Order: sequence, then structure tokens, then C-alpha cells
Amino acid sequence: MKTNNAAEGGSYGTKIADLYIVHNLAAVNGDSRHTYHAMPPVGWMNDPNGFTEAFGKYHLFYQFYPYGPSWDSMHWGHYTTQDFVKWKLEPTALAPDGPDDSDGCFSGSSIMKDGKLYLVYTSVMGGRQTQSIAVSGDGVRFEKLGVIIPGEKLPKDCLRSDFRDPKVFFRGGSYYLIAGAMSESGEGMLLLYRSPDLMKWEFVNVLRRDGLTTRGIYECPDLFELDGRDVLFASPQGYRTEGWRYENVQSSIYMLGKLDERKGVFEREYEDEIDGGFDFYAPQTLKTGDGRTVMIAWMQMWERFFPTKKHGWAGAMTLPRELSLKEGRLYQSPVREIERYRWNPVCFSNVKIGSRNELTKVNGTKVELCFTLDLGDAQRVGVKVYQKGEQDARIYYDRASGLVVFDRSRMGTEITHDAEEKDASVRSVKVRTDGNRLSMRIFLDVSSCEVFLNGGERTMTGNVYSDGEGITFYAEGGSAKIVTLEKYDIVV
Ligand code: FRU
Repeated sequence: MKTNNAAEGGSYGTKIADLYIVHNLAAVNGDSRHTYHAMPPVGWMNDPNGFTEAFGKYHLFYQFYPYGPSWDSMHWGHYTTQDFVKWKLEPTALAPDGPDDSDGCFSGSSIMKDGKLYLVYTSVMGGRQTQSIAVSGDGVRFEKLGVIIPGEKLPKDCLRSDFRDPKVFFRGGSYYLIAGAMSESGEGMLLLYRSPDLMKWEFVNVLRRDGLTTRGIYECPDLFELDGRDVLFASPQGYRTEGWRYENVQSSIYMLGKLDERKGVFEREYEDEIDGGFDFYAPQTLKTGDGRTVMIAWMQMWERFFPTKKHGWAGAMTLPRELSLKEGRLYQSPVREIERYRWNPVCFSNVKIGSRNELTKVNGTKVELCFTLDLGDAQRVGVKVYQKGEQDARIYYDRASGLVVFDRSRMGTEITHDAEEKDASVRSVKVRTDGNRLSMRIFLDVSSCEVFLNGGERTMTGNVYSDGEGITFYAEGGSAKIVTLEKYDIVV
């Protein structure tokens, strides 16, 4: 089954990609580039792949097209990191240069076995999708071993054209794999397979099947244990909007429940959207040696206008986030290592907020802001970031609806969007306001804004393309108060 990845040197396709990267790095325009988020060195990035800890570091692979800032034939790019903040570029891991994947190496996951790192990915050729495997003894160069789940192993009424994004894991003495698929009648499915050795696979059962993925399938599943429960992630294409939930053209959801892997049944007890912002898709998790579950996602969305394409790159990853369960709901907090990069602390307390408050030294675009608001009797109260004149992105509490709103409609750049999406400029979520208070932790990184509400009860992630650097608190229709505020520059 061996193909053309020579173990030491990388395959033909990865070598060409790496040469191209070296020769074109300098041509990427630095405008809008993040400073502490993973981005493609050149070209295009989408989903995180194979996110894991191995050989003494964390590995982030990703869907990568080096030769231009648009989606095209997929490679697996590769970064490593010691702390989830500084990312080291590694040689390209996979290129679409094998006999089964000449149209692309699509998304997948990774797993350690007998001291080797295996990448399990979707191989695409001639409109057909199969699952393939590659192996590495050093976590740098990968050798493709060929197809492990061909289309023949799909249940009878499944399409061979939509069978992808394998998540592989070990449980109860066997390896398991969950992949997205589609029935001939267009239903989205999640399929479970089992293997004794990662090479021979048998179909176990359908974990989920319904007509809710109106534009495709359940993409990019992930399965992990958290505080004694099973969490299943998926990214459904075309999920129906439910009030303020699932407003993006494609959503990412989590399901809490119990997987009976022997029978292949996932008993779903709760389901919700993972992030309520604009730019969040295809999340994956890893377990750290110290027991944390850390999630990362693509900080972009399909079918939108990408302003950075003109600079020679597109797509980035979110800040990695630690996951936990509280009262049966998923909570997210920024990975704790980011706090090592805090500089220039500025603190305020008990500041009354009127129509406009500019606080000394509270500005910047590579910044962490943590604050608690007393919502007072204001009708709207919040913060404007990336502000300059009338230009800003704002995050505020709206008393009439009881929602927290992230509004980037005034950022000065229009993001065109898919016809089925109502807009790409305003998103809302519902959170608690116990004691008439609301807390926010906001991370800005040149062109991104990630909001953690009430210690991670909900998050909202969005890119903001603006040349403003101001940060201004404001209240409308009444007054409110900043109970406490901390601001740090994030310097990497
Ligand atoms: C999700 C996705 C996956 C696929 C990959 C291709 O964003 O569509 O289903 O494997 O992107 O790049």
C-alpha cells in the first residue's frame, strides 16, 4: 500500500509546496495579519485537522492551499506550538499527490499508536471520497499508507461523493472513527466504524441521520469525554435558524450525551450552538497532558467575502479555548497560557458610563479586556472596539431583547454573504444577567474579536476589518457602571 511519501524528505507535492512558501512569504502583505493566532504563511486556510499532543508538543494541521488565497486542492499544512500562542511553521504534511487523493486531502484527525503519529484524512479523487491514513515516526514527515475505508464500506443508500472528515479515537480496547455522510435522499448522517489496528475497519452503525443539513452533511465531527459525559461536535451545512441560534450559513453544534460505542448509539440529551458569532467553524479538540480539553476552530465562514485575499492570504484559527461543563452546558475560556503574554496592565473600578467614556490608555488592537458591567437602567450598554470616528464594532447588552449583540455593521468594510444568510453584520446571544450584571472578556488581534461572556457561558467570534484603534464604553437610554476593568496588551 505504500505510495510516494519518502519518509525523510516529504513527498513531491509537499516539497513543491514548501519551496513555494519560502519563495512567497515576503509577498504577503502584513495588513490585517494577526499576531497571536495561527494563520496560513501564504495562501488559504480552513478547518483545523489532526489537533493533538505528540512528541512533546501540540500539533495543529489544517486545510491548506499554498498557491493562492482561495479554496482549491487541499493540502495539510502544519504548525506546532508549546503554549497555543506562538506557532512554529513545520513542513507541509500532506499534498494531493497520491493515487487516491489527487483531488485533495480533506479534513481529518490524528492519533498516536505504538510511538507513531497517524493522520486519518479524507482522500478525494474523481468526485469520490474515501478515508486514508498516513504515518510518521517523528511528527514531521508523513508517509501515506493508502485507503482504509473505501466507498464499499458505506451503508447501501449512502453517496460516495459525500463521506468525509474522519475523527478517530480509542475506546474500550478498539479504535473508532466517526465520519460525516449523506444518504441518497439527501439526509445528513454521522457514521461509526470500528478497527482493531487502524487499518481494517468495519461499519458499526449510524449515530445520527436527519434532514436538517439542508445544504450538505454533518461535517467535521469530534467526540471526546468531558467531566464524565460524552460530547459530540459536528458542523452541519445549512442548519435552520432558531431565533438567535444558528444564524450563520453553516453552524457548529455540540451534543451532550452518552455514546455506546459497542452498539453504535449516541443518546443525545442536549444540543446547542458552540459559538454565537460570525466566524467559527469545524472545531476540533485535544487533551493536554495536564488533563485539559482544548478546542480550536476555523475563524472564518464559507460563502463570504474575505477582505484579506487582496493581501495574499485568507483564513485563521480561533484562540484555543479550554472547555468545561457547568450545570450541563459547555463553557469556554481562553487557554490559560495567553496570560503569560499580558503587558502594560491598566485597571479601573467604579466608572460611571454615560453616552461616551474614553478611559485613559484603554485602546489598541492587540489587547485583552476584562470587565464587569452593572447594567444600571441603561437601555443599551457596552463597548466599541476598533473605533475611529463613526467607525467601530460594538458588543452591547440590549435590555429590550435581553440579548448581547455583536454588531460589526459600522466597521467600514462590507462582508458580502450567502443569499440564505440574513446578514453578516449582527449576531446575538442570550446570557444570564444575575444581579443586573454582565461580564465580558474580549480578545482583539488586529482583525479579530473574540468575546467570552460571563466566564464562558457563551462566546461570540468575529473578524473586524477596520483601521480604528479606539476602545470606548457607552450607555444609551440611561446610565450604567463599569464595576471593574482590566486591560492588557498582548505581546508575543
Ligand atoms: C469543512 C469542509 C470539510 C472538508 C474540508 C475541505 O469546512 O468542507 O467537510 O473536508 O472543508 O477543505
